[in-house]
Amino acid sequence: MKAARVTLSDRASAGVYEDRSGPEIARVLGECGFAVDEWMTALIPDEQPQIESLLRKLCDEDRCALVLTTGGTGPSRRDVTPEATRAVLERELPGFGEILRVSSFAKVPTAILSRATAGTRGRSLIVNLPGNPKAIGECLPLLMPAIREALRHLAGD
Ligand code: MTE
Repeated sequence: MKAARVTLSDRASAGVYEDRSGPEIARVLGECGFAVDEWMTALIPDEQPQIESLLRKLCDEDRCALVLTTGGTGPSRRDVTPEATRAVLERELPGFGEILRVSSFAKVPTAILSRATAGTRGRSLIVNLPGNPKAIGECLPLLMPAIREALRHLAGD
């Protein structure tokens, strides 16, 4: 399985702080027993055209079965991850974002601020995750059954 993890953050990409979310995605997937043979990684600023072209490349040229993004899903003016994701999706899977928000709301009332989404492009599944590393550990395990099932459908189409 080839997968990509993409960190979207102005500050992390400028070196203001270390990217802890990207590595956290790999750690949590490993803990869930999800085997990734090859990782593609990227750390880029919150620039919509740049995010869109990266997502297109990861799906169309690199043929990543799974593309997980972290960050840029909130209400700040610079947060454009959901817009960039929707622009490249062929089919949206809104259930991922819905469950992220509902499940996190019980612990963190500000989870409502997440605009995360997910969907398919070709045989790739793209899923937006929050930027906070702690949130990745809270959210990603809940999504794993649906991620595995979606990947089975996309591989078998
Ligand atoms: N979800 C969980 N589980 N834990 C969190 O701390 N933070 C929220 C929300 N979802 C949070 C969460 C906040 S404060 C914001 S602004 C949004 O995710 C978007 O975060 P992002 O812009 O880093 O993606």
